[in-house]
Amino acid sequence: MKKKYQICIMGGDGIGPEVTAESIKLLVAIGIDFNFTNAEIGFGAYKKYGTPLPKKTVDICKKSDAILFGAITTPSNIKGYSSPIVRLRKVLDLYANVRPFKSLPIPGQKQGIDFVIIRENTEDLYVGRERLTKEGAIAERVITKKACEKIIKFAFDFVKKQNRKKITVVHKANILRITDGLFLEIAKKTASSYSDIVMEDILVDSCAMQLVKKTEAFDVIVTTNMFGDILSDEAAGLTGGLGVAASGNMGNNQGLFEPVHGSAPKYAGKNIVNPTASFLSSAMMLEFLGEDKIAQKIIKSVTKTIKFGLTTKDLGGKLKSSEFTNKVIENL
Ligand code: NAI
Ligand code: MG
Repeated sequence: MKKKYQICIMGGDGIGPEVTAESIKLLVAIGIDFNFTNAEIGFGAYKKYGTPLPKKTVDICKKSDAILFGAITTPSNIKGYSSPIVRLRKVLDLYANVRPFKSLPIPGQKQGIDFVIIRENTEDLYVGRERLTKEGAIAERVITKKACEKIIKFAFDFVKKQNRKKITVVHKANILRITDGLFLEIAKKTASSYSDIVMEDILVDSCAMQLVKKTEAFDVIVTTNMFGDILSDEAAGLTGGLGVAASGNMGNNQGLFEPVHGSAPKYAGKNIVNPTASFLSSAMMLEFLGEDKIAQKIIKSVTKTIKFGLTTKDLGGKLKSSEFTNKVIENL
């Protein structure tokens, strides 16, 4: 039976609206009864309304079943300007950043990779509490019990839901004994209620090396905000780069799905960038909505299209963004 989903579309700036428009073509072709509502965000919205996150946008998000986001430009030269996506994650309590990494049949890329990084999305050094001191400067690293409990429970539930087997807790508790000590302690406590899931822990520096050397040994990684930020970009480099890296920002009631890449202004309006990251983010959105089968259909079609060498320039192909989309739709 068909359902009607309310989807908020936030293209944003630069190539954001373009890759999102390609995703909408794909979602329409798939035939679920979506209702799309556009909302403005980013530097374009700032120039129009004096704020990069208009209240109307937040209201539309709150009324939607899920959000598909493109990318935004964050200017570094405007005083007091803060990233609206970082703010939106807070407003909607999207405390878990989920990034799946799965090998695609891209020539020269390592095969057999299939793991997920789950990163705490609300605290750590990203609270932005920095100050100058006589000696230099200090940044505060905030780790709360509540946020640790939420992200670790989310990760264990995710493993269960996805029929995966193992969780790797990444930390630096040998040095950051109090903050990461707390994270690790809560992980160990939580693990006792999930007897079917194997939990191991590893120091972040060692993890960074193992990701390259023994990528296939990982299943689901859970970690704090900054370690997750760095490791997930490393992982993106292992599976085909920014053109194919997808992510979801999830909370208990809402999900916002976005390519990992930014607004790549120099490519905007040229119809040449790779919409795969947005397609795979759309597939994550479908999984979040409970439409697992249709999500798989997208993933299979993207994989098949890439396998045939029908790709955009970043993956060595000759197709325009829109031509790639047409091929993916044909291969559904
Ligand atoms: P970027 O991700 O926009 O682009 C870096 C390079 O990656 C591009 O020059 C291009 O070579 C490649 N690339 C990115 N997306 C691609 C795609 N779909 N297909 C093919 N190649 C692709 O990062 P950059 O240049 O550091 O930042 C540009 C703007 O984006 C900045 O204003 C930055 O603040 C913002 N940004 C926004 C993010 C977001 O909206 N979540 C995330 C990262 C950056
Ligand atoms: Mg990053």
